[in-house]
Amino acid sequence: MADYEKLEIAPPKTRDIMADKQDEPRPPARARRNGMRIAFRELRFWYMFLGLIMVLYQIANFVDRPLLFLFLREPDFKGQCAQPEPLFPGQNEELDRLVDIIEGDAFRNASVDRLSGAVQVKTESFDDLGEVGQDPRWEVFFNFHKYLEKTFPLIYERLLVEKINTHGLLYTWKGSDDSLKPTLLMAHQDTVPVPSETIGSWTHPPWSGAYDGKYVWGRGAADCKNSLIALLETLQLLLEANFQPKRTILLSFGFDEEVSGRRGAATLSAFIQDRYGKNGVAVIVDEGAGFEETWGTLFAKPGTAEKGYVDVKITVRMPGGHSSIPSDHTSIGVLSELIVKIESEQYPTRLVEENPYYSQLQCGAGYSESFPKKLKKLLADSAFAKSIMSPMCHNRSNNNNKPDRLALEAAKQGPAIKYLMQTSQAVDVISGGIKTNALPERATVTVNHRINIGETTKIVTDRLTSISDEIAKKYNLTLQAFDGSQEKANSIHLSSTVNRLEVAPITPADGSTNSPFTTLAGTVRAVYGKNVIVTPGIMTGNTDTRYYWDLTRHIFRFAPGYDADDEVGLGKIHTVDERVSVLNHIHTVRWFVTFVRNMDEARFDTDTVAGRGAGKCGSSRDRAECGA
Ligand SMILES: *[C@@H]1O[C@H](CO)[C@@H](O)[C@H](O)[C@H]1NC(C)=O
Ligand SMILES: *[C@@H]1O[C@H](CO)[C@@H](O)[C@H](O)[C@H]1NC(C)=O
Ligand SMILES: *[C@@H]1O[C@H](CO)[C@@H](O)[C@H](O)[C@H]1NC(C)=O
Ligand SMILES: [Zn+2]
Repeated sequence: MADYEKLEIAPPKTRDIMADKQDEPRPPARARRNGMRIAFRELRFWYMFLGLIMVLYQIANFVDRPLLFLFLREPDFKGQCAQPEPLFPGQNEELDRLVDIIEGDAFRNASVDRLSGAVQVKTESFDDLGEVGQDPRWEVFFNFHKYLEKTFPLIYERLLVEKINTHGLLYTWKGSDDSLKPTLLMAHQDTVPVPSETIGSWTHPPWSGAYDGKYVWGRGAADCKNSLIALLETLQLLLEANFQPKRTILLSFGFDEEVSGRRGAATLSAFIQDRYGKNGVAVIVDEGAGFEETWGTLFAKPGTAEKGYVDVKITVRMPGGHSSIPSDHTSIGVLSELIVKIESEQYPTRLVEENPYYSQLQCGAGYSESFPKKLKKLLADSAFAKSIMSPMCHNRSNNNNKPDRLALEAAKQGPAIKYLMQTSQAVDVISGGIKTNALPERATVTVNHRINIGETTKIVTDRLTSISDEIAKKYNLTLQAFDGSQEKANSIHLSSTVNRLEVAPITPADGSTNSPFTTLAGTVRAVYGKNVIVTPGIMTGNTDTRYYWDLTRHIFRFAPGYDADDEVGLGKIHTVDERVSVLNHIHTVRWFVTFVRNMDEARFDTDTVAGRGAGKCGSSRDRAECGA
């Protein structure tokens, strides 16, 4: 506005008046009036233009939609989901021959035997296991170690194998260049138990390791003895082909992943960090998400994020007494009121930009023919709003109060998608009361939560505290919220269990930069072809990697095996008829062989010598100790 006045009106007028005083002929009054009218018309035009912009702006604000987007081109969704070219390792005849070996009959037959044998060694883990060395149920892992040693003699002969906390396994294949941070590959040795009453429902007995020409069946076949065996097969093949790594390769196998990993992964990661230092490894690949066909496109979805986790236990304590003279409300009634309140409202469906599902939508919009039009539009709006507004105004993470239209639309695809963008709450366990003629003195409920990306467990505990506070006031009870205190009489007591976990740090996953993600994605496209689109994925469950956050930002929860004809996928994990397609397994090995070679050739900015890292395994004195 200020600019306009200065330029368009003031100067000409002044000059006109000055001109009158010169000897130039004075223009006729009519012409002067005309000139003014023209000036006014121009002015009016600019005012109208300005008004129009303000109206548009108001409308845009009102409908929460940048209307100006209509005049602009669609955002570059493909660019937001850059796909690296297929990445093949440098030529090496002996190593290149591995692909044919892996795809051959002899390897397939031998691989079936190795996998089947691994399934036949029971390695169940139970929630109530005691400490290692005390509870005899841990001893099954000695059998498993024997089996591995017998099956992979070359590895045990040539590499360093260390046992951490008795049953944790750490394999080290020392690289020749100490300045390169190691590649760390993970799996777990334990499986969930098979409840004895379900054994009869299995098509093949759960520890048979039966092979029917396509699948190997049994507990652990898909979660995750398949990847554990595939990793050892990978190293064995590379050893046989005289591979000489520059970058150190580590395999780390925990033994209690299914019961929180406290004894296995936790002690392994501490050991590894002690040796290589904080941020001491280049990349971690652990079990996780695999491939999925959506919107007509095949996506590989390595998990780059994990939702957080918190179980909250709420206990209501109220006076007991005889049932014949009850109070109006017992602890069970009050707890019920609390539960109804908790369930009456759900956490918001919100998709922050850091959430890998946001990237998945961009990838879908960029590459999938049948990507839903409405989603694409909302996605474009979001991208546009971001491009014109200041980061503070349009930071999806900050728009806490407005409904997230993009997330709500995407959530229509079903609850499995919705809960990629929403903190879940599930009232799972309840108990209270012991006798029909006694008022219950105590009633307890446990509510399970998985925390949305961009949120924290504190949001959950704050909300439950505020709801409980209301009820506590109503019934004159003392509130003891997450303060670690002992339960008192006449109280509502809240606590979170030990497995509380924040949302995992997000793994960088920009396919247009030189990063471990790009190496991983390039390997996927080298093995499966360019029609596979690699997009960051999100895990709603937690893996052993929860203990490895300090070792690297570059953590991927990824099952790299894909078999187009395997209709089951990983659908049978943790239940009856768990099985794995052998073709899937073969592809897993092929992928890991390629990935390890690609990582060996890759160089990253983060590949500086780790301070302590070079430490224990760096010097020549320590070399023998760390495997050569
Ligand atoms: C692999 O096993 C099948 C039967 O399971 C057999 O027919 C075939 O000859 C074996 N191939 C090799 C190379 O051992
Ligand atoms: C958005 O806000 C969140 C929290 O307020 C912050 O962590 C994040 O870095 C912001 N993102 C951008 C792109 O500014
Ligand atoms: C609330 O409880 C306290 C003791 O816990 C008691 O002293 C007080 O009288 C109670 N108030 C009401 C209104 O019942
Ligand atoms: Zn698992």
